[in-house]
Formats: sequence, structure tokens, C-alpha cells
Amino acid sequence: MRFLVGGDALIAPHSRDVIRYRGPMRASPPTFSVFYIANNFAPAYEIPILHSANKLCTIKEALKRLFFETPITIDKEGICMQIFVRDNPQQVAEVAGALIRAQVLRKPQSVLGLATGSTPIPLYDELVRLHGAGQVDMSRITTYNLDEYAGLAADHPQSYHFFMWEKLLSRIGMNPSQVHLPNGTAKDLDAECQRYEAQIEAAGGIDLQVLGIGHNGHIGFNEPGDVFSNRTCVAQLTESTIQANLRFFDSEDQVPRTALTMGIRTIFQSREILLIACGAAKANIIAQMVHGAITPQVPASVLQLHPNTRLLLDKEAAAEL
Ligand code: PGA
Repeated sequence: MRFLVGGDALIAPHSRDVIRYRGPMRASPPTFSVFYIANNFAPAYEIPILHSANKLCTIKEALKRLFFETPITIDKEGICMQIFVRDNPQQVAEVAGALIRAQVLRKPQSVLGLATGSTPIPLYDELVRLHGAGQVDMSRITTYNLDEYAGLAADHPQSYHFFMWEKLLSRIGMNPSQVHLPNGTAKDLDAECQRYEAQIEAAGGIDLQVLGIGHNGHIGFNEPGDVFSNRTCVAQLTESTIQANLRFFDSEDQVPRTALTMGIRTIFQSREILLIACGAAKANIIAQMVHGAITPQVPASVLQLHPNTRLLLDKEAAAEL
């Protein structure tokens, strides 16, 4: 499916897919982009339509002018995306830790969405430090992870269950009843996805979701494709993700090909999102995500439409903005 954005609506081949835009018309200069959307994907709020290329240039200039002393609020025709750029991953983790601490202080029973991968490890160290220093009490939070490999049991060293307990949860004394990840060894994976989605909904949705980003633009295991995924689902991993994950396994045939992942819609409905990226290898995809078309070929690009997303980048990952 292909949707063109223009005027006051997303022009879709089937009227049921049209999402109306109720905000003021912004026709000048006409901005245009391609937007793909899955059937029934209904964001929780009305979508303000697209950004202007001019504004994005201004952001680039502003970033340079401020020598990466941020935050900078990007005003993309009514869309705000805050970008924090810091010198190195440690400083990025400190910003992320401070934002999570603020969330938990505001709401001790926060529902946090957590991520795996190399990127959030310094953040988890920082949370452990804050916890140890008595600066944040995480005893009442609930956590939901983005994804889990299909076929790996919770005690498998490469499972995301294992990762989370090792890197964060056991270090802050989390109660297992407050921790949630999809069960990769469920007999019926589709039913497991539905159960997980229902559990998130029953928890009242996610207050703050931590995200990394794949080199191919994936968030969770939502790989580039023709449509944005909807709810938690079973995902086939692309070759580039399999190659990226290979570093954690002894051989390529051990890398799972399938995973359970929150859908794009599930992620999108989080009230707040912190997307963290560090290192030069992420610079290009970050630029595509921020400046490029909103397309499921770059799944993270959908966050341009999210009302409360912060990007936390080191200088290297921000280099192409
Ligand atoms: P990374 O993975 O943090 O290991 O780069 C991020 C991701 O694939 O989402």
C-alpha cells in the first residue's frame, strides 16, 4: 500500500484507511512525502502533517551553531522532537538516566518499556548507580521489554530475559512479578503476542519507552518492510539484523531467525519515547529517521509523528543531522 500525504488527509486507496487531519492546513510550500500504513493502524492522536524541508535545514544549522549544547526542540510544522547530543555514550546515558529518574519521581508506579542491545547498557549502569545512591526508587515500577527471540528460554544466556536480569533487573532488586518480556518458548507464538499486548494494555500502556535503533532503522524487531506493523507480533529477522546479532552467538546458525516484538503501534502508543543511538555507524540511519520520508522502509521514521519523542545521541551518531 502506498499513501501520499498532501492537503488535509492521508490519501489512501481505501477510505477506511484515511486518517483525517483536523489541524490547520499548511499548504505552503507544499510538502510531500510517502507514508505507508498497515490496515487498522490508528495512532492515538490526530497526525499533524509532515515537516518542511526548510525547517529541517534550520535544525542542522542550529546543531552546528550550538556546538552540540542541546536540547534543541525541532519544530516540524507543529511536531516536536527533542534531540539531545552529548560528547560520548557515557554522557548520553547520564541524560537518559536523569530523564528516567524524573519519570519515576513523577510517577513511582511508572510502566517502563525497556530495550536490549549494546546501546542501553551504559544507561542500565547509570540506573543501577542512581538506585545505589538512593536517588531513585524503582521498587514500584513495572517493566515491559520490546522483544524476545523465539525459541530461547529465559535462562538462555543470549535471551533477552537473561540480558535484562543480568544488566539491570537483578542489580536493582526487581521483583519478577513486575517484569515482563514476551515468552520466546511459548507453544503458540501468535497467542503469546496477543497475551503480551493485552498485558500492556491492562497495565495502562507504557509511560516511557526506551529504544535503540538498528542500522536498518528497526525499532524492537520491526524490520524494514512494506507496512508498519500493528500490535505485538512474530517477526522474521532480516539478514542485516542476523549479521548484527551474530556477535553475541558462537556461530551464524545459532542466531534466531524469528522473534516476538512489540508492534510499531504498540511502541507508538507509549506516552514518552527515548531513542538512544551512539557511534558513527548509526549516523546515517539517524539522519534518515529524522530527515527522511516517513516510511516502513525506515521503521523508526514513524517517530517523527510521535508527540513526545526524545533522541539522545552522541556526537558521532548526530554527525549527519
Ligand atoms: P545495538 O542494537 O544497541 O546493539 O546497536 C540496537 C537495535 O538493534 O535496536
